Amino acid sequence: MAVVVITGCSSGFGEAMALAFAERGDQVVATLRKPASAPDSLKALAAARPDEVVLAALDVTDADMRTAMIARVIAQFGRIDVLINNAGVGARGAFEDVPDSQFRTMFETNLFGPLDLIRQVLPHMRAQGSGRIINVTSVAAFMKTPFMSAYCASKHALDAATAALNIETRSFGVHVVSVMPGPFKTALPQKSLDCPASPAYAAAAAQFNRNFDGLEARAPDDIRPVVEAALAAATDAQPQVRYPAGIDVVHILPPILQAIAPMEKIGLHLTGQD
Ligand SMILES: NC(=O)c1ccc[n+]([C@@H]2O[C@H](COP(=O)([O-])OP(=O)(O)OC[C@H]3O[C@@H](n4cnc5c(N)ncnc54)[C@H](OP(=O)(O)O)[C@@H]3O)[C@@H](O)[C@H]2O)c1
Repeated sequence: MAVVVITGCSSGFGEAMALAFAERGDQVVATLRKPASAPDSLKALAAARPDEVVLAALDVTDADMRTAMIARVIAQFGRIDVLINNAGVGARGAFEDVPDSQFRTMFETNLFGPLDLIRQVLPHMRAQGSGRIINVTSVAAFMKTPFMSAYCASKHALDAATAALNIETRSFGVHVVSVMPGPFKTALPQKSLDCPASPAYAAAAAQFNRNFDGLEARAPDDIRPVVEAALAAATDAQPQVRYPAGIDVVHILPPILQAIAPMEKIGLHLTGQD
């Protein structure tokens, strides 16, 4: 039975992962900004198994809350076996239209909050001689998507930190890996920090949004591949550095980019992205 801490459990992947790890018999600390408004599924689970499933308050951008949450887990369970940095936020907008403050919010949520949690759990995991840190990145970690520069940059950075950290920590028995989902239908678009396009970008942004809305509308409802990837990332004896889930649909991105500007003008070729 592992002690599993998951961020961003109010909906989507985080909620589903919390349920799946609890189903396996793990002790689960499902963190979310507002435990009082947790989904019914998690409230019922925590009520039925109060010694094993805990709903804990955590805004990943709040340093005091991060420290208090980790201290609470250690006080209650004495260890942390798996940390899943799942909380994240999306954003669309032309770079010039996205205020610096918003770019920083993206990075606080998608990168710096997760990195600080890693910094806080590593001493415990090293002392245990084991641990698994799973960062939920995105296919956006590999794609350079216009009108999503803040999101792509934050996920690229998280992917790079994950792979580099894994080399540093694996000799301690601590593996740092990522789950890398493609598009799935969750609350992410509704919670996205989008910025309206200014006149210079209006036409291209409208074209992009039409195509990207289509991609999101066709995204699968069934998020089990992401949950299965997280379970594998947590339990494989020799984990992969990256666990892709549902990335087969991303071949549709080049046509979206093509619709905005011819490939040769934006230096992108259908054979792949670099
Ligand atoms: N869905 C996709 O297509 C997709 C694809 C690739 C990667 N991802 C990644 O998957 C992860 C989960 O997203 P999802 O698709 O499951 O979307 P979701 O349903 O919107 O879940 C995102 C979760 O992150 C939480 N969150 C956002 N900012 C937070 C903060 N400052 N502190 C604590 N929690 C915060 C949200 O909580 P609130 O309810 O409080 O906002 C929510 O629980 C994200 O990292 C996302 O980037 C999603």
